[in-house]
Amino acid sequence: MVEPIQIAVVGSGYVGLVAAVCFAEIGHSVICVDNDEGKVAALQGGNTLIHENHLPALLERYRNTRVRFTTDLGEATRACQAIFVAVGTPQSDTGDADLSYVEAVASEIARSINGYKVIIEKSTVPVYTNEWIRRVIERNGVARDSFDVVSNPEFLREGTAVEDFLHPDRIVVGTDSERASELLDAIYSPLTGGEYYQQPTAIPGCCSRLNPPILLQTSTKSAEIIKHASNAFLALKISFINAVSNLCEAADANVEQVARGIGLDSRIGPKFLRPGIGYGGSCFPKDIAAFRSVAEQMGVDFSLLSEVEKININQKKRFLSKVRSALWTLRGKRLAVLGLAFKGDTDDIRESPAIDLVSMLLAEGCTVIAYDPAAMERAEVKLPRSSQMQYANGIEEAATDADALLILTDWQEFARLDLMQLHTLMRYPIVIDGRNLYDPKQMTENGFTYLSIGRPSAAPLHEAARLGV
Ligand code: UGA
Repeated sequence: MVEPIQIAVVGSGYVGLVAAVCFAEIGHSVICVDNDEGKVAALQGGNTLIHENHLPALLERYRNTRVRFTTDLGEATRACQAIFVAVGTPQSDTGDADLSYVEAVASEIARSINGYKVIIEKSTVPVYTNEWIRRVIERNGVARDSFDVVSNPEFLREGTAVEDFLHPDRIVVGTDSERASELLDAIYSPLTGGEYYQQPTAIPGCCSRLNPPILLQTSTKSAEIIKHASNAFLALKISFINAVSNLCEAADANVEQVARGIGLDSRIGPKFLRPGIGYGGSCFPKDIAAFRSVAEQMGVDFSLLSEVEKININQKKRFLSKVRSALWTLRGKRLAVLGLAFKGDTDDIRESPAIDLVSMLLAEGCTVIAYDPAAMERAEVKLPRSSQMQYANGIEEAATDADALLILTDWQEFARLDLMQLHTLMRYPIVIDGRNLYDPKQMTENGFTYLSIGRPSAAPLHEAARLGV
């Protein structure tokens, strides 16, 4: 077993909380700091506040033992040598990342430094942020040799964040200091040395004792750019396949076949080539805007990123047109909506294309009866209940008497609908699938008119003759 290291994690959002419990899981001792007293009290009581696989079990196992929660950043700074900063970097009005939380945390850490500390930036930040953190700490009177600043970006996906942390494709550590680098090596050694994967209780995933993740050491600036460039490239892949899906629709081809055909090229790879209603979430939209803004400020033409954004916005408009093409007029139509979260397996609705689409449908005068396995409570804040906006307790309730059913989030349970029952419940058997969860043939065999993304519309024979599809 490696020597446990005392770690502070500042911020208890998706990244901070997952990092805190996962550091505990690999043997370290963690103080997780948040300035929100309510959040700290909830976490101390075992409430994770977010929907994330494995997180409740890990929190239960380690809370108040290997992971402590506090609002006192000063105390955590004094007690720990490694201080991970995982606070929010929201998008400002200009598209830049708002770094005021990072700055505030850096100043507060500076005021409590009582020996050599390594401040590790985990939030997604633009290049040069490390430099600024260093300057802020120095301006607060801390000697240059009393601390180092490291960039250690996270590549967690919501819903699989714990597995992603413990079974990473790579661990990126950006530092120019040997002393800091040694500390980071020690922190991650249970993963990079493979020891963690031998434990009987280890959370399973793609890494193993014989196939442990690598730790890639880079300069701080490279590490910062790696994070933004990774997210931008993934978003680009999605927009690319969405643009191809539009072409497929125009040419009567099938985007699923095309995606498989290009994804089999090992230089391209099959992942992130699922067409849909566009990417959302708290990361891609914000990070692409921030990366574009960084490039602009540095005088670099990266208008490719604007195209990625443009395709993403258009994808929602195209879906709305699809609904219109199936239903003709929208005013007064009763629509069952399956999915409000920005993707399956999460309760997060930030920048969710599903929420945007429901807003557009409401503006067109539709009545929406929505169901999501996890995101309805959050959605209600954005889309309050009314006679036009209703929430159902399950799929059947949403579908009853609906003029059409829309699939907007790729929850697994939406891919296993009881089609025979659905047919009897709905007023008209029309399914408009924004996530391509079904085979068009299967839908028509069950009597549905079925519209999806980048594939020819399909209808049962009698309907097809009427619609001319
Ligand atoms: C994303 C990245 O995948 C993580 O590596 C990164 O750490 C994280 O952002 C972050 O910066 O914190 P996440 O936002 O959780 O993770 O979600 P993804 O699984 O990447 O999905 C993002 C959006 O793209 C979703 O709306 C999803 O439905 C959509 N998507 C994804 C597609 O439309 N097609 C695909 O093929 C894949």
